[in-house]
Amino acid sequence: MPNHDAPSPIPPSVALRRATAADLPAIAVVDGRSFGEHYSDGQLEDIGVLFDPDRFLVAEDRGEIVGVTGSYPFDVTLPGGASLPAEGVTWVSVAVTHRRRGILRALLAEQHRGFAADGIAVSLLTASEGSIYGRFGYGIATEHREVEITRRRAAFRSDVPDPRGVRQVDTAELRRLAPEIHARWAAQTPGALSRADRWWDVHLADREWNRGGATALFHLVHPDGYLSYRIDRATRTCRIWEMATATDDAYIALWRTVLALDLVETVSAKSLAAAEPLQFLLADPRQLRTVGQWDGVWARVLDVPAALSARRYATEVDVVLDVRDPFLDRGGRFRLRGGPEGAECAPAEAGAPVVGIEMVALGSLLFGGAHAGSLARAGLLRVDDPAVLRRLTAAFRGERTPEHGTEF
Ligand SMILES: CC(C)(COP(=O)(O)OP(=O)(O)OC[C@H]1O[C@@H](n2cnc3c(N)ncnc32)[C@H](O)[C@@H]1OP(=O)(O)O)[C@@H](O)C(=O)NCCC(=O)NCCS
Repeated sequence: MPNHDAPSPIPPSVALRRATAADLPAIAVVDGRSFGEHYSDGQLEDIGVLFDPDRFLVAEDRGEIVGVTGSYPFDVTLPGGASLPAEGVTWVSVAVTHRRRGILRALLAEQHRGFAADGIAVSLLTASEGSIYGRFGYGIATEHREVEITRRRAAFRSDVPDPRGVRQVDTAELRRLAPEIHARWAAQTPGALSRADRWWDVHLADREWNRGGATALFHLVHPDGYLSYRIDRATRTCRIWEMATATDDAYIALWRTVLALDLVETVSAKSLAAAEPLQFLLADPRQLRTVGQWDGVWARVLDVPAALSARRYATEVDVVLDVRDPFLDRGGRFRLRGGPEGAECAPAEAGAPVVGIEMVALGSLLFGGAHAGSLARAGLLRVDDPAVLRRLTAAFRGERTPEHGTEF
């Protein structure tokens, strides 16, 4: 990985500043041009609900906004159930007329130094391109699958119970019931993002432009779970938009209900966890067809001791992590002692086997999604003793694959 001791300066006519509320339309123009979109007034109104100018930085060239980065505040769940405040980086764009002159690097450096100064231990983002964010210390932390099921062929194993208890509700009732269920789901799911009220409002606004030609949302609710979907009548497809369950009964009951929708040929879902239980519930597991696999959230650790002592470990681990962070210089040597009941992590030069690790790899390990052995084989983690690597791999993995839930 390149080392940037002296990053190239941005052009002299470009200055960075914090955004103001009045900047939103200009920010939307830069972002829309970068992503090939013209935002309508309605879209801007929704975006405005989530826009907090204090969390946005802009790059200005002679009075014109040419670059932007922003963030949204979340709490994110760690393995073991604790949660940490995290900033979700968003709205990252630089005008095509100003690219590859270091503006993104300058914006991210200032933004991330601000996060660290505010005591934020972890930042997150979803990436438009996979090659951008490794250099800034971000590693893939959650992954999800896009799946399709031919409904008529998807029978459950004969011994799978039918817990029932599902009701169909309208959006107003879902809005009332879902936040509490979602919070219970998030508490037991590593990588899950909390969802504030204003996110629920935008999430359930269900605008026409967000429906991809399908119907408005339908909702199924169980006391411990919910599932929202649309119907694409032209292709007889039920598109699952969101599902959150806090118990296995709710999970089975909701899948049973959605797979009983007459007149639907195909049930599709875009963001199933990598190790979803559904395929093991089916008499023929092959009926759950994976048609895509995507990285979800990328994580970057800003405060190594705070992040690593807040999570729990599947088995006992005692190592000195030698973390390399060329972007922000927040690495160094930290002794991590942890297990299922607790963990501590503090600066220390020695005392346990030393593991060399890139910041990007630490981000991938944070929620238990990545395999330390794979990272070692890829050269992002260095350890001399294979027994230490075995212990590290076992300790960082969790019994649940991480999921982030909320797109931002
Ligand atoms: C991605 C984007 C913000 C980069 O802005 P930029 O000002 O040109 O980036 P910088 O000049 O600061 O480059 C920073 C580093 O990232 C690299 N980089 C930037 N964009 C990249 C890309 N699309 N792919 C791979 N590397 C990229 C640069 O080579 C540079 O590397 P180095 O500093 O290690 O040499 C800009 O190209 C853009 O707006 N793209 C379209 C929108 C988008 O994809 N945004 C990201 C949303 S997650």
